[in-house]
Amino acid sequence: MRVALRGSDDDPLLPPFRPWRFMLDVDEVNYDEAELVAYTRRGLGEDVVNLSSGINHVEPPEKLIRFALDAAADPLFWHDYDGPSGHLIGRAAIAAYERSRGDGRVAIDVRNVIVTAGASAALSLAAAGLRASASAPVQGSGPGALVPVPTFPLAGAALARCGFDITEVESLVSGRWLPTVDELIAAADDDTRVCYLNTFNNPSGEFYGEAELRRLVAWARDRKVMLLHDLVSSDVSASDAIPHLLSIADEESYGEGLVTIGSMSKARAVPGFRVGWLIADDALVTRLSRANELQAPSSPAFAAPMLLLDRLLSAATDGAGDRVRDGAAASGAPHHARADLSAALRRRWSDLHELLASYVAVMPDLARFLDTAGAELTDPVTADGLAAWRMGIRRTLAENAAVLSTEFPDLVADVPAWRGDFNTFVRIPGLAGLDHLATAHELFRRHGLQTLPAPAFGKDEAWWRRRGYHSRLSFAMPTPLWRSALGRLRRAVADLAP
Ligand SMILES: Cc1ncc(COP(=O)(O)O)c(C=O)c1O
Repeated sequence: MRVALRGSDDDPLLPPFRPWRFMLDVDEVNYDEAELVAYTRRGLGEDVVNLSSGINHVEPPEKLIRFALDAAADPLFWHDYDGPSGHLIGRAAIAAYERSRGDGRVAIDVRNVIVTAGASAALSLAAAGLRASASAPVQGSGPGALVPVPTFPLAGAALARCGFDITEVESLVSGRWLPTVDELIAAADDDTRVCYLNTFNNPSGEFYGEAELRRLVAWARDRKVMLLHDLVSSDVSASDAIPHLLSIADEESYGEGLVTIGSMSKARAVPGFRVGWLIADDALVTRLSRANELQAPSSPAFAAPMLLLDRLLSAATDGAGDRVRDGAAASGAPHHARADLSAALRRRWSDLHELLASYVAVMPDLARFLDTAGAELTDPVTADGLAAWRMGIRRTLAENAAVLSTEFPDLVADVPAWRGDFNTFVRIPGLAGLDHLATAHELFRRHGLQTLPAPAFGKDEAWWRRRGYHSRLSFAMPTPLWRSALGRLRRAVADLAP
């Protein structure tokens, strides 16, 4: 029999971070198979809809899956341990992508990258490394880490488990959730060693602009605070250009102060493949790699070919969205001039070769694989397909964001502006005064709606109760499904309202 644990339980196995424990309490019911069976047996006739986990329900491009599966059949990816940093090809793909984002000015290579089983593994590893590097404060408590409220609790949990004292920073500026950089700085003290930021900030979808990031980096450099930047979901669909923090840190002479985490789970709708990564300065990566040997002496076999395809095509087609919006897609024309795309792909492919040159020279299997894969990956039709897929998601997300605001103003309030992400964080006035945990369970058990309410993203029930009932809603799904889920939420609110 399963024993229901509650976040307030003092289980030393769990990270000492209340929002994380709260999320476990929600999921203990909302993701429980027996609960799912019980819901289905009640015969309400409506499938469970997941508004909770931020999974992108828009199917990934078939080419991505097919290429990764076919390529992973090559023994190059599974016949041996590829080492705790992960497969060379995956690391080179990540480095090539970041070089292209930085217009070739950021000196990153395979020694700056670790491929992990998802961003979760990368964050755990990063937290352990940051703790080991952080000098302990004089006063005996742990070193400090700043995390915004609301934000996804994983980083806070990973940092807390490693002994950081977490300071949750809220914004007092009206109309925004994400603390301003000034608010972050004001919340820091002499013991602060880490500052976590997520682009897009999950659940509010906000992110810092270039000027704010520059100021944050300069402050962090002067105070020797490490920046832990979580990019999960950032390139699914950007309606504004997202600044490249690696370039900014490099320009501000603080490359060594940045740890970047990324993942394909959300951006490409493949959470089951567990493909994530960590980028940091060589010295830290060397230490983290050695530490990683204990749990990951090699990376998942799919990771390298998937990253190869995804990073290469993303680098070649970044910005395609704007061109599509400006006309080509509407007429059904290709998203790029094919010649431009071919040229971009060839440039990215040669970056990759440059990164791998010394290895290719002595590793015939690597050379053989790259020769075969190169022909497939530099085909502009494939790249066009990925750009079209991203644009398709973007159109769906834009439409879904509009549906929420225009068709459901009676249901939700304080909806943040949509910036390209697929999570939003709303107040549900009809549920004001209700307990977040019990209500989330009722929404699932009685209405088949999985949601993740506010106390999972920081602070606690009492703090949120004063602000009204808030919840994240994830909306990367076909518009008809989203519209019907919101209609069901409206009925559920009427049913549960006090
Ligand atoms: C902000 C953020 N970081 C990290 C993760 C973990 O992602 P992964 O599936 O790659 O472990 C998530 C997943 O929800 C997330 O939202």
